[in-house]
Amino acid sequence: MLKNRQIGAIPLVRNLRQYQARYQADMHRLAGLVQTVSPGLFLREWLARPGSVGAVWPSSRQLARQMAAQVPLSGDGLVVELGAGTGAVTQALLDRGIPGRRLWIVERSPAFVQHLRYRFPALTVVGGDAADLESLLPANKKVDAVVSSLPLRSLPPDVVGAVVEQWRQCLAMDGLLVQFTYALWGRDMDLFEGFAEDPSRYAWLNMPPARVRIFRRMAFAGSGS
Ligand SMILES: C[S@@+](CC[C@H](N)C(=O)[O-])C[C@H]1O[C@@H](n2cnc3c(N)ncnc32)[C@H](O)[C@@H]1O
Repeated sequence: MLKNRQIGAIPLVRNLRQYQARYQADMHRLAGLVQTVSPGLFLREWLARPGSVGAVWPSSRQLARQMAAQVPLSGDGLVVELGAGTGAVTQALLDRGIPGRRLWIVERSPAFVQHLRYRFPALTVVGGDAADLESLLPANKKVDAVVSSLPLRSLPPDVVGAVVEQWRQCLAMDGLLVQFTYALWGRDMDLFEGFAEDPSRYAWLNMPPARVRIFRRMAFAGSGS
């Protein structure tokens, strides 16, 4: 009798375990969604520093994927993400298969830094200014790619100049620079001296639609390298 009852209890235990596992997976997904969207945090940061945040919404999945898709999986140098905000592009880089040990995240807003560290506990998230990039990176570490969401059109021109100069200093020759912009056309190549530009990609479903600009670091007279 007891034996029969024990046998009868096994499927019940199995069902309970399956239910529990499904519940935990759903909660995990829900937490991920809340972390991904983070509308309150993003809006608060934008209201506090509109020029520095440069967007009212986090980057869409389409834009984040377009940016991440440009980064080659080969190589063992760093992939440096600038202005990671709530981490939409960070997640896309991980989803693409860039190993966490190669990722180096730089973000200036303390609130976003705290959020990123919570969302990606295994990643290196550095609180600092992209204009000081060289001092925020490990010494002598090759940088294969810079993936930037920095709002270059709304940051002060001297900051933009300093940031781009840091890219010239830090990126390996032939290294990749990915930068998104809401300007859907135009080529301000004076700013990007020392880089060759590949054809842009577009994220039409982003709000507003965005263009992904892709540059390659090349040697040029006067760069000193
Ligand atoms: C357009 S938002 C990034 C959106 C991000 N892809 C997302 O989905 O959340 C621009 C980000 O650049 C950061 N930022 C602006 N100026 C910076 C600087 N000089 N150095 C580092 N981060 C900066 C802002 O704090 C903000 O998080």
